[in-house]
Amino acid sequence: MHKPAVTVTADLTLSEASRVLDDRKVGAAAVLDSDGRLIGMVSERDLLRSVGHGIDPTSTRVAEVMTREPVTVSASDPAATAVDIFRQRQFRHLPVLDNGQVAGILSIRHVVRVAHIEEVRPAGSAPPALAPRGLEGVAVAETAVGDVRGEEGFFHYRGYDAAELARRCSFEQVWHLLVEGELPDARQLSAFRERTVAGRHLAEGIDPILQQVARLPGYTPLGALRTAVSVTAAALDTRATLDIPPDEVRADCLRLASLVPVLLMRLHRHHHGQPPVHPDPDLGYAAAYLQMLTGERPQERSSRALEQYLILTMDHGFNSSTFTARVITSTGSDIGSALTGAIGALAGPLHGGAPSRALAMLDAIGSPERAEDYLREEIRSGQRLMGFGHRVYKTDDPRSTLLREVATELGGPQVEFARHVEATALRVLEELKPGRRLYTNVEFYAGVVMNSVGVPRDMFTPTFACSRTVGWTAAIAEQAANNRLIRPSALYVGPPAPRPVPQGYALAR
Ligand code: ACO
Repeated sequence: MHKPAVTVTADLTLSEASRVLDDRKVGAAAVLDSDGRLIGMVSERDLLRSVGHGIDPTSTRVAEVMTREPVTVSASDPAATAVDIFRQRQFRHLPVLDNGQVAGILSIRHVVRVAHIEEVRPAGSAPPALAPRGLEGVAVAETAVGDVRGEEGFFHYRGYDAAELARRCSFEQVWHLLVEGELPDARQLSAFRERTVAGRHLAEGIDPILQQVARLPGYTPLGALRTAVSVTAAALDTRATLDIPPDEVRADCLRLASLVPVLLMRLHRHHHGQPPVHPDPDLGYAAAYLQMLTGERPQERSSRALEQYLILTMDHGFNSSTFTARVITSTGSDIGSALTGAIGALAGPLHGGAPSRALAMLDAIGSPERAEDYLREEIRSGQRLMGFGHRVYKTDDPRSTLLREVATELGGPQVEFARHVEATALRVLEELKPGRRLYTNVEFYAGVVMNSVGVPRDMFTPTFACSRTVGWTAAIAEQAANNRLIRPSALYVGPPAPRPVPQGYALAR
């Protein structure tokens, strides 16, 4: 507190009282009667308010504006008592009494300097509930795009079984379903295909930038794609979703989703010193993908196998990258930013980075007879078998079921070997990790399928990014059409705040 207290008498004019406060550099004074008893408090606020009301400060007396019979605290009261009064009564100064005499004046600034101030919340409101660290089991949005039902081993796109769509539809049909809301009829599909083919043209000036990015020392296909999407969005001048109507959001989404595989393949070929291959307008998404990769028209069975993988990975509930895209969109930002952020989230091994690791495990095992020993040793030493286990699926991952079929149809020694390793792994997991319900996940056969159709290993996750762009854009459009800023809170667990900045701690650079 400020002691001794600055005091004035009630017969001073406001001008005189103001000079006292200025001279003593305090914000309030105790008003005492002729016997030295406390009869009021006068603060800068009282003086200012009076002048603001047109009162003449040279003739008006303190007695007319002071707070009479002010609330006081005792010098022996804990600081918390003063904090409570400051908080409840909205005062800034309190006279402190000691044996009935004014011993000092406590200002809210004194308390802030020394006390741990508890957060002020509206009366009766509870602190925010702490969600699980991984947000598992917490619904943070409503969506009509699709859902995953882990216990049933089922996931769907807009209500349709996604695995059935992958068996029966083309990439473009399912793409239309996700972003337009319905499976297209023949006329709608043809118009939609035209728009996606037209969307494959690179924006002016982008290719030289891609060439530079492809030569960067720390080049990774996914990192380069992230950069390329960002640059392309800038070149296309995609505007803030907050400022454009839903139709324009969807048009921008379609344009960027059509371009993503083109950008990726350009980067890949530039990186390997190969001339870029223009996508053949007669080819659908999956076939054009392989054609841009190799420069040749792919075999039907290869492009169909890849197409089924791509359909199966377009969307998968409220996964981390989709959530990221929605958070960015919720700020009203542009689609390029949302896609760039989503690619960043997908790049992590815990999300999109595992398919090449599953294949690496097959390489490390080498031959069927080594499988059992290798897998047992991995688990005994605390390692995880790549391509097994899932946060949501506690039964067969429907994607792995179909991809196993697709891989089997493609055939070849690697597929036979993979099936042997899978069967061994499931048996060993059941024995060494009983009750954990660990099954083959999408990544195990994803690597096998992509490898069989000629996608290089470092392009596995980027290929996944291409198909997932469809899900991201569906989520972006949904968020933009019915937006609310996503802005949760965190429980602060650091040192009590506010902490005083150490005395003498000065500006430094
Ligand atoms: N191999 C061996 N044991 C495993 C595996 C695995 N692949 N997965 C889980 N377990 C064990 C854990 O060691 C743990 O055992 P414990 O009870 O003795 O400690 C138990 O199963 C439960 O594991 P959690 O960590 O709680 O499972 P979580 O749901 O967090 O993990 C994850 C899911 C990350 C996918 C995990 O299964 C894993 O690491 N798998 C290997 C990597 C992989 O394949 N990733 C791709 C996933 S698919 C996708 O993201 C698109």
